[in-house]
Amino acid sequence: MDDRPEEPESRQYSEQMKGKTGHKHHHGTWNDIYEGAKPEDLPWFSPEPDTDIMQLIDKLVPGMALDIGCGPGVHAIELAKRGWDVTALDISPGAIKMAEECALKAGVEVEFRIINVLAFEPDGSFDLVLDRGFLHSLEPTEYPRWTDMVAAALKPGGIVVAKEFTIDPVNRFGPTGLSESEMRDVLDRRFTIERLEQTEFSVRGQVHDGLILLGIRV
Ligand SMILES: C[S@@+](CC[C@H](N)C(=O)[O-])C[C@H]1O[C@@H](n2cnc3c(N)ncnc32)[C@H](O)[C@@H]1O
Repeated sequence: MDDRPEEPESRQYSEQMKGKTGHKHHHGTWNDIYEGAKPEDLPWFSPEPDTDIMQLIDKLVPGMALDIGCGPGVHAIELAKRGWDVTALDISPGAIKMAEECALKAGVEVEFRIINVLAFEPDGSFDLVLDRGFLHSLEPTEYPRWTDMVAAALKPGGIVVAKEFTIDPVNRFGPTGLSESEMRDVLDRRFTIERLEQTEFSVRGQVHDGLILLGIRV
């Protein structure tokens, strides 16, 4: 029996990715984007981890980390290199396969799992949750579920780092993004917000406005 999570349509990326991965039968799921693709085909792929994310994380003592919507695993792998014990989740089997191959090449161990993050029930054992571009791919109605999951994943005093697109209604590259107040509201009373700053996503020679958030689990 196949116990893989059923995948919803990848709303924001499916249209742009049609024909771009060389995949002939595009049904609009995340996995279709990964199947037959190389990491560098992905619109969100950057061969190096983001400096802004790593600068925040390097201030922390390595412990247990959870990367949600890990994609090709660039940041999960970098965390493992820096001494973190990393679990990395993605709904797409193709993403996890790609990430596992990259981890093997990098010579590090990461626990990659194919799972719908919104249905994940963590046990509060994590010191860090990292989200690069997963939250902004959700519908606003799904944000409360994201918050509950992150709150349940973190130990008291644990850190969440999220980097997402800033809202841009005319942006036709990927998801619409979140406004600063939406980002702030995603973290409820279970968290304190330590940083919320403008930043940039630099992918494949293009720069997109973003926001980076660091919250602490109360
Ligand atoms: C924009 S990509 C970012 C990937 C990665 N964080 C990075 O920065 O390279 C969003 C990722 O979230 C994954 N994803 C989307 N919905 C998901 C869900 N409900 N549960 C787990 N992963 C999901 C997609 O498969 C995709 O790999």
